[in-house]
Amino acid sequence: MTATATPVLEVSGLGKSFLGVAALQDVGFTLREGSVLGLIGPNGSGKSTALDCITGFTRPDSGQVRLRGRDISGRPAHQIARSGLVRTFQTIRLYDELTVGEHLGLALRGLSAEDAGSDDLRQYWLEAFKLLRFRDAPAGILSYGQKKLVALAAVLVARPAVVLLDEPLAGVNPLVIEVIDQAIKHANEAGQTFLIIEHNVEFITSCCAEVVVLDAGRKLAEGPPSVIWDDPAVYEAFLGRKADDDDDTR
Ligand SMILES: Nc1ncnc2c1ncn2[C@@H]1O[C@H](COP(=O)(O)OP(=O)(O)OP(=O)(O)O)[C@@H](O)[C@H]1O
Ligand SMILES: [Mg+2]
Repeated sequence: MTATATPVLEVSGLGKSFLGVAALQDVGFTLREGSVLGLIGPNGSGKSTALDCITGFTRPDSGQVRLRGRDISGRPAHQIARSGLVRTFQTIRLYDELTVGEHLGLALRGLSAEDAGSDDLRQYWLEAFKLLRFRDAPAGILSYGQKKLVALAAVLVARPAVVLLDEPLAGVNPLVIEVIDQAIKHANEAGQTFLIIEHNVEFITSCCAEVVVLDAGRKLAEGPPSVIWDDPAVYEAFLGRKADDDDDTR
């Protein structure tokens, strides 16, 4: 992937207010073919709202979203998903009564037999996500980490071209983090493009060539992780000012 790779998703001037309070203001960035772009920022900085606006789950007040050059702003979520732009949610959304296997089956619904792939392929995904022995278990009995794996597997199994993930690692243990990290890297090597919201610095640094930083609904910075972590403005946004910088006259 190079900085000149084709733009897949172009977001510009995105704005959204809730009850008069701005959650997003004039946010723009470009996601390029085959890349993994990180979207980071402190709690409440507008990351999930940006994903909601891009994927049609929230209607933005202003701005434009282009998928492969086509304006998809304001389109309904199901239509956007059908054009190959698929997401996960910060809060897991599964059907407790449906089994793990049925969740993957649902994700493949609507695909041609060729696109859906063979049973062997589904088996491969279950194995890659360490979910094989839970194939016939209802999602409701799974642990939180296992549910996170099902939610991600159900998105990746259909091999959408562009995948948007909202905190895929939040609240899961290091072994599950490793499984998710590997699955994303494999899917990316196989050609899928990712936009990933995550607070895990190590993961962002190892997965993302570029990072966009939001702060209080605005884009604060963008660039390679090594540059972003050295940016005092980013440090300040996440942690406040350093104690020894304080002009404390109390
Ligand atoms: N449906 C809503 N109604 C009212 N306010 C909302 C709504 N959704 C988000 N907000 C507000 O918009 C702002 C941005 O929220 P958002 O969830 O996008 O942040 P975030 O960066 O994803 O945070 P976190 O890291 O905690 O997930 C916050 O002030 C939040 O309270
Ligand atoms: Mg969020």
